[in-house]
Amino acid sequence: MKKISFIGILISLFLAGCGEKKEATEMAAAEPELMDEQFRPQYHFTPKEKWMNDPNGLVYQNGKYHLFYQYYPDDIVWGPMHWGHATSEDLIDWDHQPIALYPDSLGYIFSGSAVIDKDNTAGFGENAMVAIFTYHNPNMEKEGREDFQYQGIAYSLDEGKTWTKYSGNPVLPNLGVRDFRDPKVFHDPITNNWKMIIAAGDHLQLFSSDDLKSWDKVSDFKDPVDEPVGVWECPDLFPLQVDGTGEEKWVMIISHNPGAPNGGSGTRYFIGDYDGKNFTTDQTENQWLDYGTDNYAGVTFNNTPDGKRIFIGWMSNWDYATQTPTETWRSAMTLPRELELKKIENGYFLASFPVEQLSKISEQEFSEARVNLQENFTKEFDFSQAKVSFQFEGAPSDFEIEFKNDSGEKYLIGYDATGSTIYTDRREAGKNEFNEKFDARVQQMDVTGLENATFDIYLDRSSVELFIDQGRYSMTNQIFPSKPLSQMTIRSKEGSILKDVKISSIKSIWKN
Ligand code: FRU
Repeated sequence: MKKISFIGILISLFLAGCGEKKEATEMAAAEPELMDEQFRPQYHFTPKEKWMNDPNGLVYQNGKYHLFYQYYPDDIVWGPMHWGHATSEDLIDWDHQPIALYPDSLGYIFSGSAVIDKDNTAGFGENAMVAIFTYHNPNMEKEGREDFQYQGIAYSLDEGKTWTKYSGNPVLPNLGVRDFRDPKVFHDPITNNWKMIIAAGDHLQLFSSDDLKSWDKVSDFKDPVDEPVGVWECPDLFPLQVDGTGEEKWVMIISHNPGAPNGGSGTRYFIGDYDGKNFTTDQTENQWLDYGTDNYAGVTFNNTPDGKRIFIGWMSNWDYATQTPTETWRSAMTLPRELELKKIENGYFLASFPVEQLSKISEQEFSEARVNLQENFTKEFDFSQAKVSFQFEGAPSDFEIEFKNDSGEKYLIGYDATGSTIYTDRREAGKNEFNEKFDARVQQMDVTGLENATFDIYLDRSSVELFIDQGRYSMTNQIFPSKPLSQMTIRSKEGSILKDVKISSIKSIWKN
C-alpha cells in the first residue's frame, strides 16, 4: 500500500464531515495555461495538475462519457484520495470538471464504479448517476485493524456535477477482510438486478442488490491458475459476444500488484461463463491484457450507447509511479480501447485496440505500399505525437524498430523469431535514473502466429502503445526522452517485407 503523509492525514481530517450533504464543487485549482509541459501527453488524458491514479466510475449518460479518477489535489504523489472528474463526447477530447468526491469522516475515496439508475431502484431519483466506491479509513488502518476498507455510495442528479453521499453509508461493511476494495457494479442481464464484483484479499467476491443500498454475497471467485501474484485490485465482469459468432462469453478483468509479466503492476483476464451467480472458467494459463509495464487498474464503461466495451487503464506502474519525472502533474490514462473477444484453435483471447474515434485527430502524412527490409527503412518525422502502422507480408524474420532523437536516445521494439518473442527496450530512451526498476530489463512477450500481422504504434511524447494484430497483443510503456523522437529505422537482417506502411501525426486535444 502507498505511504500516507502525516500532513495528508491532517488534511483529510480537516475535510472530514459526515451525513448526507452536498459536496463542494470549486475547481481543484487555477487552470495551468497550456497543458504543454515537457513529457505532457497531448492526446491522452492527464489531470490539469497534481496526482492521478486509477480510472473510476466510467459511465456514459446523455451524450457524455464520464471519466472519474483517483486524485490527490494537493501534491504530485499519492495522498488522501478524491475522485477527479472529466467528460467527453467522443472519448478523445476531454473537459476537466470540478472534483466530484472528497474524503469525509468515513475515509478516503478509493476506486469504484458508477451506474445510471434508470428505474430509480435506489430512490435517489430517476436516472440518478450512482457512484459505488471504497472508503479507506486511515485511522482504523493505523490502529492495526483489518476492516478499514468498506463500500459507500453517492449520487448525482445533474450528470455528475454535484454529488450527495448516501446517509446510510457504508452500504457494504467489512467483516474483517484486509484489501476489500474497488467495487465494480453492473446491471446483471441474467438476474435483472445489480451485481458488484469486488476484490477481497486474494480472490474476488460477488454481491447482489435490488436497490444499490443493501448487498448480499452470492459467490467467490478464486484463481484457477494459482500462480503467485500480488494483491488483487480493480476487478470487472461483463459479457462479450465472440467476434463473428453468436456465442457469448463472460470476461473477468483483475489487476495485480506486483506479479505482472514484466514487473510490478499489470492486468490479467479470464474468459468463462456466468449464470447469474457464479463465474467459472477452464482457463489454465495466465492471460494478460497488456504485456508492457504501464497499463494498470483498467476497467470498462457502463451504459455505453453502442454496446461497445470500452476500456481505459492507468498508464503507470506502482513500482515507480510516484517518481516519474514530471513536475506539475503526474500520470496519464491509456488510450480508450475497445475490447473484443476472438476465438482461436485452443481457446479465446481478449483483443484491445484504440477506439476508432482517434482517426478524427490523426492525419496521414506518409504512406508506402511495400517496403523490402533487405535495406534499412529510415524515416525522419516528428514522432512525438504520431502513429506508425504496417503489416508484414508473410512471416517476419527477426526485426527491430528504433525510434531515436538528436541526443542519441532510443526506444526499441523488436522480434526474436527463434524465441517467438516481441521485446521493447527503454533502457536508453531518456530519463530513467528516478527508479532502478524503471529500466531494469528488456520487456518481453511471447507471441504466436505473426504471419501477416499488423502493427500499430501510438507515440505521445512520454508513452508508446504497441498493438499487434488489432490488439491481440499489446504493450504499453512510458518513456522520458529529453528531446522529441525524430527518426525511425526498421531493420531486419534476413529481410522481411512490409505492406501499407503509414505514418500519421496526431493533434493535441489540449491546444484548441
Ligand atoms: C489500484 C489501487 C486500488 C485503490 C486505489 C487507491 O491502483 O491500489 O486498489 O482503490 O489504487 O488509490
